[in-house]
Amino acid sequence: MTDAIPDSQIAPKLPRHWRWSLYILATVVLLMVLYGLGRLGHVALGSFYTGERGPYLQQPSPTSMTLRWQTTEAETGVVRYGLQPDQLQWQVEEKQPGEEHEVRLSGLEPNTRYFYAIESKEKSLYAGPDFWFFTPPSVGKPVATRLVVLGDPGYANPRQLVVQDVMQTWLELNPRPDRPAFDLLLTTGDNAYRSGTNEQFQAGFFEPYASWLRNVPVWPVYGNHDARRWAFFDLFSFPLDGESGGLPSGTEHYYSFDHGQVHFVVLDSTASSMDEGSAMLRWLQEDLAGSHQPWLIAAFHHPPYTHGSHNSDSRGDSGGRMFDVRENILPLLEQAGVDLVLSGHSHMYERSHLMGCHYGKSETLQPQMMQQPVHKDENALYIKPAAGRVANQGAIYLVLGSSSKLDQGPLDHPAMAVSEGEMGALVVDINGSRLDARFLTDRGMIADSFAIVKGDTTVTPLQCAP
Ligand SMILES: [Fe+2]
Repeated sequence: MTDAIPDSQIAPKLPRHWRWSLYILATVVLLMVLYGLGRLGHVALGSFYTGERGPYLQQPSPTSMTLRWQTTEAETGVVRYGLQPDQLQWQVEEKQPGEEHEVRLSGLEPNTRYFYAIESKEKSLYAGPDFWFFTPPSVGKPVATRLVVLGDPGYANPRQLVVQDVMQTWLELNPRPDRPAFDLLLTTGDNAYRSGTNEQFQAGFFEPYASWLRNVPVWPVYGNHDARRWAFFDLFSFPLDGESGGLPSGTEHYYSFDHGQVHFVVLDSTASSMDEGSAMLRWLQEDLAGSHQPWLIAAFHHPPYTHGSHNSDSRGDSGGRMFDVRENILPLLEQAGVDLVLSGHSHMYERSHLMGCHYGKSETLQPQMMQQPVHKDENALYIKPAAGRVANQGAIYLVLGSSSKLDQGPLDHPAMAVSEGEMGALVVDINGSRLDARFLTDRGMIADSFAIVKGDTTVTPLQCAP
């Protein structure tokens, strides 16, 4: 015979509506756990791309070039190269087998076209007349430079291919004798949507732009979407030791490089501190002080001026990073005589007048901070009196974020000479004392065209003093 259980130990029966509430709560928790597990699985799977990846070029210098590619099996890669596609007399072999391949060719001649073939020990992977690169000219050489800029290019969709196709057509119609169609491919960040996974880099960046990447070195800026995963710094080899010129930064987040007569600085406006005295700003000051190239171009993701799909007047937008750029980065660049500043993040096109000393919100912009073009015909022409780089003679601030997607925005920032809700890409030519830039839309139109000419002392300089 069992003892009777005291009444106090019997669980009281819950009222019916409480039980229903518990059932609903348990179901919601279960669904949240399942969703979380699904997201985790998605992140894990998307973080590893195990397919093939065609060759792309990194860390160019007048005497060296890095080739990267990926294979599905672990293989020992061999790069053969030479001055003719059928005479690849030199070769470099990897020491270890692997799926991710990186080979640096050195001892090259400046300003020279090399053909290459990539092989594993068993078979040929990439070969033929389409596989070549040009080494950059010696630093300081007055060789014409052409760069193509893609803004926020990594949203995999057919319209990014149209943008690329229009640019390719323009390049073919405007060739440079004895030179490649262009020398450098630069992005303004957000190279893979939505989360910068390895898989998304393949679909949104490496596949659509493969025909350019195998011939032209690419310099991708670090955007906020790239920063959502860890693939970005695995996929690209940045010159933290000054491999491509400039002062070694010791980090892949920011660095500089030289091409001919142009000094480029690429900054991290996404994750690095932009406080006064921070490591990036200290490096930037030192790098700029040590560079005497006549042209200076800066690139980073967050624009100092935009009324597009982001608002540079709102401190709550993008964690205040557009304020940090404007207040702390711009004075250093302008003091060093920057000519062109390229950003993205807003998914449209905005281009300022030649301007300087504007570090506040748009309402604080003064007319004397801007220099109007000499003429405003099809091609807006801006003049800088000094032949080289002189502090505070004005820069063009350009927002390009619409190479793969277009968003809405008021497009009324008063610093902008041109604001267009158009998809497209930018081509920039620098030749001697002249810079020409054109914005080509996906509809095949040149929606903006401007030039900067240096060294006309008859022109009054921008009256701008910080
Ligand atoms: Fe962005």
